[in-house]
Amino acid sequence: MGADHASIISGDVPGATLHVVCDASKDTAIRIADAYSAKDVSTDPLDTIRRKDVDAVLIASPDPTHAELTLASLHQRKPVLCEKPLAQTMDEALMVLEAECALGQQLVHVGFMRRFDPSYVEMKSAMHAGRIGAAVMMHNFHRNVAAPPNFSGLMAVTNSAPHEFDIIRYVLATNVAAISAFEPALDTDSVCKPVVMIIETTCGQLVTVEVNNNAGYGYDVRCELVGTEGSVSLQTQFQTRIDQNLSAGTVYAADWRPRFREAYRLQNKAWIASVSSGQPVAQAADAWDGYCATVIAEAGASALTSGNKAAVKLVERPALYAKTGDAA
Ligand SMILES: NC(=O)c1ccc[n+]([C@@H]2O[C@H](COP(=O)([O-])OP(=O)(O)OC[C@H]3O[C@@H](n4cnc5c(N)ncnc54)[C@H](O)[C@@H]3O)[C@@H](O)[C@H]2O)c1
Repeated sequence: MGADHASIISGDVPGATLHVVCDASKDTAIRIADAYSAKDVSTDPLDTIRRKDVDAVLIASPDPTHAELTLASLHQRKPVLCEKPLAQTMDEALMVLEAECALGQQLVHVGFMRRFDPSYVEMKSAMHAGRIGAAVMMHNFHRNVAAPPNFSGLMAVTNSAPHEFDIIRYVLATNVAAISAFEPALDTDSVCKPVVMIIETTCGQLVTVEVNNNAGYGYDVRCELVGTEGSVSLQTQFQTRIDQNLSAGTVYAADWRPRFREAYRLQNKAWIASVSSGQPVAQAADAWDGYCATVIAEAGASALTSGNKAAVKLVERPALYAKTGDAA
């Protein structure tokens, strides 16, 4: 993911310079810096964040490092784009919220890039323009070809599903009140079974989420929003279809990159523009959104483990994160 961000920042965002590539592996840092013409490399993230010639920080290291490195960036009052999830626990996410509120300035952008995906943007505007009446249900599917070794159903909830939690909140402009989570009882010979979640929003809508990291056939994200007067669905984005031997066939990508390439590009451009202007991007996920996704993930993990519905309990939203027209 870090290499993809390096590619976008260096090649696709005028006005931004990819200055330092930091990776715990020096070889990786050198490889990425050479590929995308960065001036310097490092293996020490805290030292990199402190550098005077670094204006802004993009974090794409593993999940457990996110909160610490985001806090270090805030300590230096530097804008930071942190890959999802913002934190591993609700308490860690709260520390980020508190640190940013103490600065009195929004500097954190969380990498929930689906908010910039043109099809989700169209879905949100169709709903808010009243084209399907009032939204009552939303159905989401997130499928990968094969889960990495040791990836569990619990990680499907805490690592994969946060994208779904965030886009549900963003499209519906509401928050999550409760979550239930289930795995099939059937033995599938895998530690990572599909997980199905049922989410109740604070506005009373019902949302389903399937995360299947061992779907076998391709990377596939689907979503349908059902209203009182119609429904709006994402269209699968195949570039071509082959008709041959009495059949029609299309091609799936092996991972998420082709499907969300434009979303990453638009997100990173908006982030760099906000670094220049000093104004947060309204469309982007901020630290409050990152906190909410973490709390929902924690409740989802508890629901999956216990078999019981879990309430999602949030602190009061600090004034720094107020948004107009948003119940979330
Ligand atoms: N937004 C998205 O769609 C999306 C997609 C994939 C991954 N991600 C997120 O991006 C992050 C990275 O995922 P990935 O698949 O690229 O992982 P990866 O394991 O392929 O790469 C992580 C890199 O971080 C380096 N690293 C480890 N600890 C470090 C540290 N303390 N400081 C500096 N470098 C360190 C590793 O050497 C490695 O090169 C994860 O948090 C993941 O959740 C987001």
